[in-house]
Amino acid sequence: MTSTAITGITELVTNDPTTGEGALGILHDAALVLEDERVAWVGPRADCPPADRGRDLGERSVVPGFVDAHTHLIFAGDRCHEFVARLTGQPYDGRGISETVDATHDASDDDLRALLRARVAELRGQGTTTWEIKSGYGLNTRDETRLLRLAGEFTTETTYLGGHAVPAALRDHREAYVDLVVGPMLEACAPLARWVDVFCEPASPVAFDGEESRIILEAGIRAGLAPRVHGNQLGEGPGARLSVEVGAASLDHATYLSDEDVDLLADAAPEGGPVVTFLPLVEYATGHAFPDARRVLDRGVTVALASDCNPGTNASSSLPLAMSLAVRHMGMTPHEALWSATAGGAAALRRTDVGRLVPGARADLAVIDAPTFLHLFYRPGVPLVRALDDDHFAC
Ligand code: NIG
Ligand code: FE
Repeated sequence: MTSTAITGITELVTNDPTTGEGALGILHDAALVLEDERVAWVGPRADCPPADRGRDLGERSVVPGFVDAHTHLIFAGDRCHEFVARLTGQPYDGRGISETVDATHDASDDDLRALLRARVAELRGQGTTTWEIKSGYGLNTRDETRLLRLAGEFTTETTYLGGHAVPAALRDHREAYVDLVVGPMLEACAPLARWVDVFCEPASPVAFDGEESRIILEAGIRAGLAPRVHGNQLGEGPGARLSVEVGAASLDHATYLSDEDVDLLADAAPEGGPVVTFLPLVEYATGHAFPDARRVLDRGVTVALASDCNPGTNASSSLPLAMSLAVRHMGMTPHEALWSATAGGAAALRRTDVGRLVPGARADLAVIDAPTFLHLFYRPGVPLVRALDDDHFAC
């Protein structure tokens, strides 16, 4: 085992209120000792114990690596034209998913692996150290399995999303597709996934209504997968209630919540109900109104911020940008936004080993080239942060 003392930290966010100031557990003039993949010690620089080697970050700030609990990173092609069309009023309704499905079917394993490797490097280059990856651009047993197998080369947080859209060829045979998703496709995919997800959105002609979504999630649960839900993205709908009723780890999007939805989520929160994972990059890219995060935050609901990086509704992988949108448009404070993109994401994935920098946690550090994490908001769009995995900040 090799120990490394990390010094030169002006501000360290631990997300552990017992270690430092406030909910973020902030320490000033701090140090960390890492032992291989884990944090071994955190505290004031003056108290740093001896280690095998040292690394001075040169007076920068450190936060837990971002935890992106919602991505669709595995796909081929792009739909930039859809984004441009939306700028002149074309609404998003999910039908463009089929274009990505066709491109993904045509891509080889090596093509997809190379695309995924580049996207993962892009995430790390912006401070993200844990990422979930969904299937959902296969929509047949062979390709959904292929996507999950490839995704599993890059993360343990793999999500079966056969219930992403009814494929174009089965548009008039929805029941047959749901039967496939909960039958042979699930059987082949379950060993390759940790989670089951569904696009529960009656407002989309390709997505699933409340009953179809329930059937898909409950089948996934019986197959040993834990549920999460895409819901309430395009309008109010059954997703929020369903997420509570099936015991989902997370309700994602939550752009349109009724007062009743908020009550349900708040009532479930003390018993470990769904985290609400907001995806503000989607509102940026689709032109929908940003949700008011205060409605759930002030009711005690755990909130995560994730990217939803995908070719249709948002192609940005930037959690710093998502955080900036959240403070300007969703009523969150910078401290809440940082917590939600780190510890909140970890909660959405039911992980306790990431999202905090405390002894025993994974040594996933994001280094900010600024004296305080507040510069992420103060200087949006500036590439200040990256995962500590290379020599960029070595001195
Ligand atoms: O999370 N809304 C459903 N799925 C994705 C978008 C998929 C696509 O349009 O390619 C999302 O927004
Ligand atoms: Fe999504």
